[in-house]
Amino acid sequence: MEIKLDTLATNRAYGLLASLVTPRPIALVTTIGADGRVNAAPFSFFNLMGARPPICAFAPGDRDSGIPKDTALNIRATHEFVVNLVDEALAEAMNRCAASLPHGENELSHAGLQSAPSRMVKPPRILEAPASLECVEWGTLQIGENRMVIGLIKYVHVQDRFYDPEKQRILPQGLMTVGRMASPDWYCKTGDRFEMKRPD
Ligand SMILES: Cc1cc2nc3c(=O)[nH]c(=O)nc-3n(C[C@H](O)[C@H](O)[C@H](O)COP(=O)(O)O)c2cc1C
Repeated sequence: MEIKLDTLATNRAYGLLASLVTPRPIALVTTIGADGRVNAAPFSFFNLMGARPPICAFAPGDRDSGIPKDTALNIRATHEFVVNLVDEALAEAMNRCAASLPHGENELSHAGLQSAPSRMVKPPRILEAPASLECVEWGTLQIGENRMVIGLIKYVHVQDRFYDPEKQRILPQGLMTVGRMASPDWYCKTGDRFEMKRPD
C-alpha cells in the first residue's frame, strides 16, 4: 500500500500512524492546577529528546470541544510536570487515569494510586511508579492542532530495586516498562529482550 496522508480524514491518519510508530513509551504525567488540584493522565506521544540538557517532550491534545486537556492547561498555568514511567504493575491504573473526569477531579484517587512529594517541582510524583522525572516546562510548540510540551528534566526518582548504585545504571532485566501499540487499545510488554553489539 502507498498512502498519501492528506487524502485521509484526520482520525484515520492518526490511527494509521499511531499503529505504525510502535511501541511508544508512556508518560503518566502529573500536574497541579493554579487551584492546587492534582491531575494525572497518560500520554504516548512522548519521548526522551536529549541529554545535554536532559529534555523530554510529550503532546497533550485538545478535547473534542476544542479546549486543551487539563494537563496542558495546568502546565500553561504552572510550568511544571512530572513524568511517571509505566511498568506492567502500573498499566491498569495508568489506563484508569485516562478516564475523562470532570476538571479538578483527582485521577490518582480514581485509579487507587498514591502521590509522593517531588523534590524540585510542585506536582507530586506517583509512589507506585518505577521511576519519575521531575520536569520544568522549557516551552510549548503549537504546530497546527498539535501541542508539544518540551520539559527540562531536573530530578530523577528510581525505585531502588531497579538501580545498580555501583554502576550508576538501571539493572538490564529489572524495569518492565510497557509500550503503546496499535491504536486505540493495544500494548506490549518489554520483557523479551536481546543484546546487539554496535559495530566499531
Ligand atoms: C496509553 C494512552 C496514551 C495516550 N496518549 C495521549 C497522547 O499522546 N496525547 C493526548 O492528547 N492524549 C493521549 N491519551 C488520552 C489522554 O490520556 C486522555 O484524554 C486524558 O483524559 C487526558 O486527561 P487530562 O484532561 O487530565 O489531561 C492517551 C491515553 C492512553 C490510555
